[in-house]
Amino acid sequence: MNDPEPETSAGPGPASGRSGDAPDRAGFPRVTSFRTRTGVLKPSRQDAWDRLWATFGRDAGAGPIDVDGWFERTAPTVVEIGCGMGTSTAEMALAEPGVNVIAIDVYKPGLAKLLQLIEENNIANIRIVRGDAVTILEEMIAPASLAGVRVFFPDPWPKKRHHKRRLLKPEMFRLIATRLQPHGVLHVATDHAEYAEFIEESGNSEPMLGSVTWPWPMSSVRPETKFEGRAARVGSAITDLAWGRITE
Ligand SMILES: C[S@@+](CC[C@H](N)C(=O)[O-])C[C@H]1O[C@@H](n2cnc3c(N)ncnc32)[C@H](O)[C@@H]1O
Repeated sequence: MNDPEPETSAGPGPASGRSGDAPDRAGFPRVTSFRTRTGVLKPSRQDAWDRLWATFGRDAGAGPIDVDGWFERTAPTVVEIGCGMGTSTAEMALAEPGVNVIAIDVYKPGLAKLLQLIEENNIANIRIVRGDAVTILEEMIAPASLAGVRVFFPDPWPKKRHHKRRLLKPEMFRLIATRLQPHGVLHVATDHAEYAEFIEESGNSEPMLGSVTWPWPMSSVRPETKFEGRAARVGSAITDLAWGRITE
């Protein structure tokens, strides 16, 4: 049986009417952008998890990351938020061995798949953090430390009453901007036209972000994921957006 895959980003809201509200530090529920989904792994992925997680992964809440120590080198570092099954993560990391890639998601089966891709392709430049990207950026990633942030096909939460769950909104743009180095780049892709407009407006209204200057500190070439393939089949246009940090 296949693992439950993340729903298409053009899909409906919560799969079961439940979504993951995480307690914030004051103990109040904070609305999150991800769904609560089963984390059951098929045996091959469980095996990869058991052997590889301690080397390549860590959980949210583990404290600030010493990036140079974890990768055992100093290199430009890119964070991918919501890496899903890790398809783009693995391909882009292989194409750019000189870039450190930190992949973030809450979805354990997807992260286990990424561990398998790391092992099968002998990829040295990926590390994984499991948990809510908001908490991870706030608590684990140093300000002004990232060459880039990637957010590919974030869940659009299309129903108006769910818009508050969207990952990319003005306060998230501010948080991401603070983690980028000056001239660091945020690259976003979405297949949802209305969310694309909202994302564009939110990004354009963040004073720390402006037009991207060329060359980017990391690749702008985005491989096609399952989400993108599905979107193309139903005729949804893909929008790529990018901003650079314009403040010191
Ligand atoms: C629609 S999927 C896209 C996956 C992948 N980027 C792709 O293009 O195939 C969105 C992913 O973002 C993850 N996600 C949503 N909100 C998140 C958050 N706050 N922190 C970490 N991951 C999150 C979900 O678990 C899901 O795997």
